[in-house]
Amino acid sequence: MQTLSFKNYEVLSDYMADIIANSIKNEPNLVLCMASGSTPALTCDLLVQKLKEGQVDYSKFTFLGLDEWVGLPPTNTGSCHYFFHKKIFEPLQLSPSQYFLFNALAEDLKDECSKMDKMISDKGGIDIMIVGIGMNGHIGFNEPGTSFTLLSHVAELDEITKSVGQKYFDGPVALGEGITIGLGHLMNTKKVFLMANGSKKAEVIKKTIEGPVTKSFPASIMQKHPDGCILIDEEAGSLLKKDK
Ligand code: F6R
Repeated sequence: MQTLSFKNYEVLSDYMADIIANSIKNEPNLVLCMASGSTPALTCDLLVQKLKEGQVDYSKFTFLGLDEWVGLPPTNTGSCHYFFHKKIFEPLQLSPSQYFLFNALAEDLKDECSKMDKMISDKGGIDIMIVGIGMNGHIGFNEPGTSFTLLSHVAELDEITKSVGQKYFDGPVALGEGITIGLGHLMNTKKVFLMANGSKKAEVIKKTIEGPVTKSFPASIMQKHPDGCILIDEEAGSLLKKDK
């Protein structure tokens, strides 16, 4: 596992956006899976800019949303659907056939998971996955205790996730479950990037990189991925041992 540290959030986001834009340029049929949230927000904006300015053909890549809050309509401004529509799909005018996000309103959520698993397998696997890290070490909605081999699944949300998650919404929201791509898919992805910025992420980044690999701290799985990369800014890396 590689760790790359950047001066600040802007430089980190620019680096990530460059990697994605170049990957699409070199491999137009790229399968990209991304988390939403505060961390990748600037990466998305810069990616759109780079794809447009670089005159990259982005009409063939596939975009997969990592997760969604169960029960939320895509029009809810705190939903992952809303985030990606506003940040990526609308600015790039992507064809709906190019992206696939979980329908968190589906009556049969197991079927939603099967659809995602089939999509991933039909596309020949995920090339690049970009994830953030929760304050409890979660990746997507793979909460503490989740098996490292699970594929797409519905998860009972941890108390920390329910309370930290309130930041995405205009007012208090009752959050209960999430639907998510599992860590089994992460392990099968060719290249995985975990991004984190800010001093509030320093503790979880230390555990991810220096702690034991354990189901009770899902992000520690990054240590086992054959091509995993942690991208952090100086604040998020402030508690790491100095020789890292
Ligand atoms: C969101 C997701 C979550 C976030 C994590 C960090 O789609 O998958 O696991 O990546 O909770 O969130 P932020 O980036 O808002 O700190």
